[in-house]
Amino acid sequence: MKFSKNILCIGAGYVGGPTMAIIALKCPEYKVTVVDINEERIKRWNSDDLPIYEPGLLEAVRVARGRNLFFSTDIPEGIRAADIIFVSVNTPTKTFGHGAGMASDLQHWEKTAHQIVAYSEKPKLIVEKSTLPVRTAEAMERILSGNKKNIHFEVVSNPEFLAEGSAVKDLLEPDRVLIGSQQTESGLKAAQVIVDIYAHWVPAGKIITTNLWSAELSKLVANAFLAQRISSINAISALCEKTDADVAEISFAVGSDARIGSRFMKASVGFGGSCFKKDILNLVYICRSYGLNEVADYWEKVITMNDYQQERFVKKIIKEMFNTIVGKKITLLGFAFKANTGDTRESPGIYVAKQLLEERAALVICDPQALENARKDLAGLDHGVTYELDPYRAVEKAQAIAVITEWEVFKKLDFEKVFSVMQKPAFIFDGRNILDHQRLFKIGFNVFPLGKPSLTHF
Ligand SMILES: NC(=O)c1ccc[n+]([C@@H]2O[C@H](COP(=O)([O-])OP(=O)(O)OC[C@H]3O[C@@H](n4cnc5c(N)ncnc54)[C@H](O)[C@@H]3O)[C@@H](O)[C@H]2O)c1
Repeated sequence: MKFSKNILCIGAGYVGGPTMAIIALKCPEYKVTVVDINEERIKRWNSDDLPIYEPGLLEAVRVARGRNLFFSTDIPEGIRAADIIFVSVNTPTKTFGHGAGMASDLQHWEKTAHQIVAYSEKPKLIVEKSTLPVRTAEAMERILSGNKKNIHFEVVSNPEFLAEGSAVKDLLEPDRVLIGSQQTESGLKAAQVIVDIYAHWVPAGKIITTNLWSAELSKLVANAFLAQRISSINAISALCEKTDADVAEISFAVGSDARIGSRFMKASVGFGGSCFKKDILNLVYICRSYGLNEVADYWEKVITMNDYQQERFVKKIIKEMFNTIVGKKITLLGFAFKANTGDTRESPGIYVAKQLLEERAALVICDPQALENARKDLAGLDHGVTYELDPYRAVEKAQAIAVITEWEVFKKLDFEKVFSVMQKPAFIFDGRNILDHQRLFKIGFNVFPLGKPSLTHF
């Protein structure tokens, strides 16, 4: 079959894979190829055991794969054949040198730019899908345009707003698609090419076009605002625990104000995920580099509060279990940074597990999708850790349960049965406030929710 366009995506991760699967699904006349340096990942994208878990993803991949969706490790050939290249490689926080712990590590991005130059034989449209510091597109355009082949590369920014756990739904019904370009004739033409892709299924009113810098900065600001809401309600949860206020009642009362809204208002053990912390640090770094220290300090506090919430959770477990957890069996229900994903990057579960292990607890980790990643996260430290898929087996002879992830399956457990197999006194620390605390208390548990009065039998 002759395709009207060749689209390439470099980076077959949480963003590249699902985004390209949906573009291929909705645009059968385009050939979509996803490449990656990671052979194992590509092998799994070509099987039914996909490298990431997202509801609805396997179904979408199955429809398009082999028709107009292909996964490959042949990066040179992919670049040569492409008209449009989405770059969706990872951009973690730098761990070395200048800006370590704050700035984005752009080595993968830059490597990709050099590869694009090396293998291109005709002009191409380059799309920034990765989240990048403001003005990266400009730098990329410089690297790309510095080629001796005289090939023109236009760079547009199309940041991705999908949330893990609902990636397929978010891609199919996005709140908005954002496309930033240079405001030149060629830049606007390039933006229109990307608009045309999304217009296959996204209503025109939801496709926003801006200048390049606004698109890049909007992504960082969106994540900073979302994380800020979580830190705000978590800060209030600490105050609730000192008073008789209930954070869930406050969330409801405050969130009922249409100007504020109810989403991202649930107290929790803290936010995780590969993006929030990294993107805020990046924002902070950019602000500092422009001398805007007050602005930088303001956003940095969002992370300080998130760290505080995780520490508070661990301290509470230790204190309430009579100040020692040495040798005590504690079951973590959940390890993924949120429900419906196996992703554990920056998950509060990692911090909680490490701290409890420092205190020499015997940990059992139970998660329907994240055990493979949990093993990697705790490699070398996991002497005394058991990984268990079945929640009922995970709680056998445990003295305490700590809820880390809000999986539906945990809400539906038979807690009478759970109580009957645990050691007594039995403790539950609900780091997501997902359980029926009064009911648990009646069954016999000592219950420690977040931002609500504790329910204890002693
Ligand atoms: N995960 C999310 O929810 C999310 C949401 C929005 C935006 N983002 C942004 O999207 C970008 C990608 O995130 P992700 O979660 O998909 O990362 P990821 O680590 O899951 O995937 C990145 C992939 O790029 C590959 N890669 C790196 N260098 C390469 C190269 N030179 N050539 C080919 N492949 C290469 C890696 O092997 C990896 O498979 C990041 O900038 C992130 O901030 C992520």
